[in-house]
Parts: sequence; structure tokens; C-alpha cells
Amino acid sequence: MLAHVSEPTVQPVAAVPDPAAPGFAGPGDLASALEATGYLPDEGLATAAYLALVMHRPLFLEGEAGVGKTALAHALARITGRPIYRLQCYEGLEASQALYDWDFGRQLLHLRAAEAAHATTDTETLEASLYDRRFLLARPLLQALEDSPSVLLVDEVDRADDEFEAFLLEVLSDFTISIPELGTVRARTPPLVVLTSNRTREVHDALKRRCLYHWLQHPEFDREVAILRRRLPQVTEQLAREVARATAKLRTLDLLKPPGIAETMDWATALHTLGARDLDPDLAARTLGAVLKYREDTERVQSLARGALFGG
Ligand SMILES: Nc1ncnc2c1ncn2[C@@H]1O[C@H](COP(=O)(O)OP(=O)(O)O)[C@@H](O)[C@H]1O
Ligand SMILES: [Mg+2]
Repeated sequence: MLAHVSEPTVQPVAAVPDPAAPGFAGPGDLASALEATGYLPDEGLATAAYLALVMHRPLFLEGEAGVGKTALAHALARITGRPIYRLQCYEGLEASQALYDWDFGRQLLHLRAAEAAHATTDTETLEASLYDRRFLLARPLLQALEDSPSVLLVDEVDRADDEFEAFLLEVLSDFTISIPELGTVRARTPPLVVLTSNRTREVHDALKRRCLYHWLQHPEFDREVAILRRRLPQVTEQLAREVARATAKLRTLDLLKPPGIAETMDWATALHTLGARDLDPDLAARTLGAVLKYREDTERVQSLARGALFGG
């Protein structure tokens, strides 16, 4: 749904009711819905996500790689039945790449066709016809506003630079985008915004202030076992528990890249594929490539007494 108005009249977003807000009775209810999709949140995360939904505030998720930030945004889209638009951030990302581009090729074709058909059309009319919505290529931010209500995932915002952050702050404060040739686009319902950061740098306070903040930890042992059991039902409970325990130990070693949940799942899958029903130390050592991704980390772990890591 699209609302074009020529005057950029700005209204406070919090005042706009969300008619499509699904009726989650509370954080526990939201957690159950997420679990049904295969995403197992802890209480703190379920509460933050619930509040973001009902308070119409962006959710800022920070944490190491692989703790489930991106996956949460996708799970929220599934349980709310909303489309998700993902803006992957990177150094040098510019506002235009997040918003829209004019489709130059199609505009040119239109121009040629129009010239051939009505040679009498005046230049001004012709020019105006070039800036039609048909010729606009919507990028994720605009898509998320147009296809309302939606989920907007601004992924790894720490990789973008300061200017982009400032621009983002502007968009998040009123959910309107002004297109000089067309007018202002405003979402009928503000999107549910999820921003993620791997904290490779600090994101500015102003952006964080706009959001509800949640720091994601690596999962507690029981939850990681539950995730493994849920996502990899073919893996024995014994193997799941031992892999989760060994991964938890790896995370205490101050490695270059502590394993995330994806690595735990890869490791359990690798071991299961090799026929393991529990964590055999030899097999564990041979499959470290599923869980550690730096030579230095692998060497470090292999140099430790195996019992210290895999035993007990
Ligand atoms: N709470 C969870 N429940 C189920 N799967 C999870 C959970 N957290 C993470 N995962 C899985 O772990 C993997 C890595 O998660 P991801 O969202 O990509 O991490 P991040 O974005 O924080 O780097 C994905 O396959 C994801 O589905
Ligand atoms: Mg991610």
C-alpha cells in the first residue's frame, strides 16, 4: 500500500495504530510463536521483540556473529505474516542504494516511444512522464514502506558509515521518503524495523536512542541443546549435549572467532554424518573445521589437552 502526498507532513510514528499488529498476548505468547517456526528465543529477547512490536519501535540487536540476530528478523516476519525487506549494509553504502534509483534504460525507451508516437507533445509534458512510478526501482527501504505492513531488516549496520547512519536515523524518525519528482512516500503502517550490529564499531547513541536495544549472548547450554534438537532431530540427544558442552568451552578460550549457533549446528551435523552418536575426542579433533574458521584457533585448540576440552 502506498501513500503519496505532495506535502511532507510529518506525524509522530508512535501515534499511528498498527491495524495488522497480530494479537500476541505477551512475550511468552510471542516466544511460542517463534518456537513454532524453529527459532528458540530466551526470555529477554522475546520481551524485547514483543515490546518492539507493540510500541512500534525499531529493535536494535547487537551481539557476536552467529547468535541469531538475522534469523530473529526472519522469524518475526514469518509469525506476523509480513514480507521482509533486507538492507545489507557495507562500507560506502549510500542513501540512493537503500532507497531507489530511476531506471534509466526504461526511461530512455519510453522517451523514444513517446517521441515516435506523438511528435507534438511538448518537452515539459514529456519530461514529466519520465518520472513516473513505473520507472522507479525501489530499494529495500522504499519497498518496506510501500509494501506495508512489513518487516525491515537493516543488517550489520556497523558496516555502514556515519553519513548513512545519519540518513537512517532520519528515515526511522518519520518513515517517510521524499522523492523530489514524485512526492512523499509514507508507510500506512510503520514497518517493524530490526537493526543488527556485530559491534565491529560503536553505532551512534542517537540511532540507539531511537530503538529498543538488546544484546544477544551465545545461548545458555540448555537452550543450545534445545536448538540443536529442534533443528537437527536426526542427531542423538547425547551428541547434541556433548557438542553444546564442547562449543561452550570453545567460547571461553578467547578465540579469534568464537563459534556461533550455525557452527554448533554444522559441527553436530558433521559428526552425525560420520556416524557419531556421542562426541568421540578423535572424531571431534578431525571435524574442528566445522566449528573453527581460523588456523590460529584450530592450532590453539589442538594444542590443548583434549580432556580439558572434550572430556567431562
Ligand atoms: N535462537 C535460535 N533458535 C534457532 N536457531 C537459531 C537461533 N539463533 C540462531 N539460530 C541459527 O543460527 C544460525 C546463525 O544465526 P544468524 O541469525 O545468522 O546469526 P547472526 O545474524 O547473529 O550472525 C542460523 O542458522 C539461525 O537459524
Ligand atoms: Mg546476521
